[in-house]
Amino acid sequence: MVISFALIWAVVVGLCCVLWLAVGIRRRQPGEPVIENGFIPYLGCALQFGANPLQFLRSRQKKYGHIFTCKIAGQYIHFLCDPFSYYSVIRQGRHFDWRKFHFATSVKAFGHDSFDPRHGHTTENLHQTFLKTLQGEALPSLIETMMGHLQDVMLKSGTLNPRKDHWEVDGIYAFCYKVMFEAGYLTLFGKEFGDDKCQARQAAQKALVLNALENFKEFDKIFPALVAGLPIHVFMSAYSARENLAKTMHAEKLSRRENVSDLISMRIILNDSLSTFNDLSKSRTHVALLWASQANTLPATFWSLFYMIRSPDALKAAHEEVHKVLTEAEMSIDPSDPQLSLSREQLDNMPVLDSIIKEAMRLSSASMNVRVAKEDFLLQLDNKEAYRIRKDDVIALYPPMLHYDPEIYEDPYEYKFDRFLDEKGQMKTVFYHGGRRLRYSYMPFGSGVTKCPGRFFAVYEIKQFLSLVLAYFDMELLDPAVKVPPLDQSRAGLGILQPTYDVDFRYKLKSL
Ligand code: HEM
Repeated sequence: MVISFALIWAVVVGLCCVLWLAVGIRRRQPGEPVIENGFIPYLGCALQFGANPLQFLRSRQKKYGHIFTCKIAGQYIHFLCDPFSYYSVIRQGRHFDWRKFHFATSVKAFGHDSFDPRHGHTTENLHQTFLKTLQGEALPSLIETMMGHLQDVMLKSGTLNPRKDHWEVDGIYAFCYKVMFEAGYLTLFGKEFGDDKCQARQAAQKALVLNALENFKEFDKIFPALVAGLPIHVFMSAYSARENLAKTMHAEKLSRRENVSDLISMRIILNDSLSTFNDLSKSRTHVALLWASQANTLPATFWSLFYMIRSPDALKAAHEEVHKVLTEAEMSIDPSDPQLSLSREQLDNMPVLDSIIKEAMRLSSASMNVRVAKEDFLLQLDNKEAYRIRKDDVIALYPPMLHYDPEIYEDPYEYKFDRFLDEKGQMKTVFYHGGRRLRYSYMPFGSGVTKCPGRFFAVYEIKQFLSLVLAYFDMELLDPAVKVPPLDQSRAGLGILQPTYDVDFRYKLKSL
């Protein structure tokens, strides 16, 4: 009986394998890139890719050349590894559908109705909304509000309680997380109406932000799994966390808040006027924006502060730059009445901080740039080779291939705070590969039409954060020789990678 059961089981498994070999494996057609199907049904090469994407792609590039195809979690992905050919993907708009992947990913992760106008739930041009509310004229007020909140959080709201005569010990990531989350949250979502001096109101406000932070953390943990296609209901606590966040962002609750950013006010208006979303779906669109505004900014702030404190030269140059800007603006540093303000022009005039942040993001960013083929077409590479691409295939660019290329960045694994400064100490933007000038050499914010619309604000807020910690605090690593924590590769493809563990530092108020 046992033997016959095992026999039946073996036959079933065998038949499945034959079926998979017959229909589950894609065969390369003439003119197509080389295909690697992997050995595991459905997953294909997913495990090898996930373990170390950069190593995986480099080894395949060596074997197959500038372009090759891998099956990853059921999807055939063409990886393009020649930086001079990036242009053909970033600019070939008519062959690619960027909306399909982006909108579907947002729906999977946040559970709102689709923003793709073709699905009939909204007529909004979301891309335009982001450009209007996060760039150009929207920036000065975002910058001013963020500066006020950063100083409140660092010095007034009780989040830190720094003193002059006492070193406070904290993890750098924990420090960046609580300061940037609270200030960023209040900048986008405002505060509840009421008397600012009322203690009960302050306590309620604080509790709301702390709750949001805990829920955000819980949800963010499983974000890679959601993008990979697992349903959120598998992760009960993350599901509750996301729904708790959504409850606090119900339109009726948001209407009781003041100083709400244009990004969120416009979202409320357009949700109501152009979409057929129900209330829950509307709230979830705000959760998506909270995630977009924080998930990459938090680790990027960590890496910027960590590398800056760890490099005495970087710390000195940054101190000098901040001191110069504040002196020229005749601003005095007073932690008991923190009123520092830096305009967009002043922030633009801080190339050292710019370079410190850029170099930190070069080493930690791993956002995959993805486009879906709208139709069968011929992809032309820079070396005049052309490859056939099938409709619905995905084409991916993986910027760490650039960021860690020793031909572009000498000693690519080393942090050099002035790597993005030219001989005159101004911002350096031109890089070369094999003596040829590159059009794309630095891509933590994505590319082309899907490039992060919040990228200018993101860099400004990290610059503001660094300027303020430099102005108000003395800071030291507990272990000056501490190693760089490894990057947590579980989020590879999704943006700035987090450290696998935190690094302790100490800080106290400066004696001025
Ligand atoms: C260091 C910080 C940040 C990094 C590295 C970053 C990176 C990215 C990347 C890689 C994308 C996807 C681009 C693509 O798919 O090609 C993206 C999208 C987006 N980001 Fe950022 N981002 C950051 C901060 C921000 C901030 C502060 C905001 C808003 C306040 C923001 C708002 C958005 C939005 C709304 C999208 C979706 C755009 C769309 O689907 O059209 N980001 N970001």
